[in-house]
Amino acid sequence: MGEGEGGGDLWDFFTPSGDIGEGEISFVGAALCGRPLRSLPQAWAMKDFEAIHQAAEIIKKGGLVAFPTETVYGLGADAFNPLAVARIFEVKRRPYFDPLIVHISHHAHLEKLVVEIPSHAKKLMERFWPGPLTIVLTKREEVPDIVTSGLPTVAVRMPRHPMTLSLIELAGSPIVGPSANPFGYLSPTTAEHVRDQLGDQIDFILDGGHCEVGVESTIISLSEGKPKLLRPGGVPLEEIESIIGRVEIAPIEEGRPSAPGMLPRHYAPRTPILLDWDEKNFNSKKGKKVGLLTFREPKKSKKKFHSIEVLSKKGDFREAAANLFAAIRRLDMLNLDLILAETVPEAGLGRAINDRLRRASGIISQP
Ligand code: TXA
Ligand code: MG
Repeated sequence: MGEGEGGGDLWDFFTPSGDIGEGEISFVGAALCGRPLRSLPQAWAMKDFEAIHQAAEIIKKGGLVAFPTETVYGLGADAFNPLAVARIFEVKRRPYFDPLIVHISHHAHLEKLVVEIPSHAKKLMERFWPGPLTIVLTKREEVPDIVTSGLPTVAVRMPRHPMTLSLIELAGSPIVGPSANPFGYLSPTTAEHVRDQLGDQIDFILDGGHCEVGVESTIISLSEGKPKLLRPGGVPLEEIESIIGRVEIAPIEEGRPSAPGMLPRHYAPRTPILLDWDEKNFNSKKGKKVGLLTFREPKKSKKKFHSIEVLSKKGDFREAAANLFAAIRRLDMLNLDLILAETVPEAGLGRAINDRLRRASGIISQP
């Protein structure tokens, strides 16, 4: 099926195949991405195909659809429909200076979006797409200014969730997608999170289950000069550097940061979060309801806490990242006076986890 032919029979996309394990359905659309995607579990019932079809029709008509990705849920609109994109800013109460990521389902979409693909970008796309890496490149004039906040660049990523790849295919156009949360609040990692926060303001929620990575994509700028890391995320910096060499870490700029998601306070719950606190000061919190967020099982003082969330008992970064936003959300629901949180070792995915923790606590500091 070629680009723009969306809207036909969904079974054109998903055909049973004899090559794969029993109880699975092969994903023919994967061929469009130039590499095989994992096959889909049988849990993908007809109702899921119908949901994707319905969601695609809504996108085509200029509506808003929350969609699953491997990182967090996004709030989608047709990237080439400025009115639909404007509604995203309204619903999220997002400042117009904060540009959006454009999600694509196959490489041919890049022709509509960027003027060139530098060799570093090609290598990273080859290695990490579909996956949690966003690449900022020089945009084509046709990309609406509302998408890029008037910047000469556009952020592009090919997500890994098969439902969303199919959604983009059927919609026949790249889809912009900020995280599906009110601006500044925690990103959603389940369809319920989206429903709780934005449910009555959007047209459809495509439920693709729990997000497997749990923190947003890594953003790297390759639009000019040396490669720059704008946001640590689901692909560790070390893995990127192993392919394209040293990457600079973009400084936080006053007023208009290079990636506005890098604002000092972002990804934040309502309850204040304190990072890297001192056990000695704990007595001053007597009489207060305090929650604890730890990486591994806490060693002591369990009794002092109203509630404890452990991100990964075995100290695994992947598990910790996948649990991060949901764990903070659960603590945030308990009407605590304070959440005490611990940072994790600053390597691999730990860099993205610490970045989100620092921003959730409002600490201005570079990872
Ligand atoms: O994992 C993700 O990236 C998720 C899923 C839904 O794909 N999306 C996401 O979008 O986190 P959002 O809007 O919450 O964060 C996008 C970040 C913002 O910090 C924005 O400033 C930055 O990307 N960004 C977008 N376009 C940019 C550009 N042209 N130059 C620099 N930064 C850009
Ligand atoms: Mg966001």
